Amino acid sequence: MSNSPAERRSYSENLASDQTFDIHPITPRVGAEIGGIDLAQLTDADAEAIRSILVDRKAIVFRNQNITTAQYASFMRIFGDPVTEDLVAEPGNPPQVGAIHIRPDERQRINFWHMDHSFRDLPSPILSLHAKILPPCGGDTLFASLEAAYDSLSEATKKRIEGLHTLHKITPTQNSKRRYTKEQMTGMENAPSVRHPLVGLNPDNGRKFLFVNIPIYCRSIAEMQNEQGDALLKKLYRHVQRPEFHFRLCWTPNTLVVWENVHCLHYPVADYFPHERKLWRVAIKGTERPALA
Ligand SMILES: [Fe+2]
Repeated sequence: MSNSPAERRSYSENLASDQTFDIHPITPRVGAEIGGIDLAQLTDADAEAIRSILVDRKAIVFRNQNITTAQYASFMRIFGDPVTEDLVAEPGNPPQVGAIHIRPDERQRINFWHMDHSFRDLPSPILSLHAKILPPCGGDTLFASLEAAYDSLSEATKKRIEGLHTLHKITPTQNSKRRYTKEQMTGMENAPSVRHPLVGLNPDNGRKFLFVNIPIYCRSIAEMQNEQGDALLKKLYRHVQRPEFHFRLCWTPNTLVVWENVHCLHYPVADYFPHERKLWRVAIKGTERPALA
């Protein structure tokens, strides 16, 4: 698929006129693939354009990025400070580059739509993965735009959820059990719930987004009785999963993806047992609480 320069520019107002790389939208509402770029050699203008495209498209896929982990950490600094906590450390990697590693004959247990860290006051706004070891096929990751999901709600539902808040709490998962010590997990499980708006406002583009997560994290609606709130949350969580709001990333070696964690849900597909899958992972530090729309 190829786009004329004019079409490409429509995906971002801030592209420089001397833009050298190619941008291909993946679906109408979410995702872009950028080609003809080496992430180890970005100019300031490239970095500015990539940040702008990310705001528009929510997730960007870069293929064939044969870069070192130090170059990966350096690239991710264009989005903020990579965190050194919250990672499964990998010997030989910079402390900001962790691993998502399912070993041969091990089952991946995270196979549901979710956002990372919504149980924090300041969830990571941007996450990234870089594929290193892939199964022969499968192990894809899907991404859904919470802005597109909000836009498609009926006016009645938009009115019904306006001004509501949700309560989020951690639930131990395959990844969190690896990332945190038992004491850290107990501390987080005993911490009070974190309150977030159900409809957030993205300050970067002025768009509203449906801030829901899987019920194991997004436990209840603060202003509603449990039964009523649970039913509404389930309905909204199901709504986000409509294929019109998502794209499916079929990994190839050295594919690198960056996405807006707070404005997306992602789904790692656990269909590749008994094969191995290993990706490097970088998370950007959260600095702002999601704002009420
Ligand atoms: Fe995740």
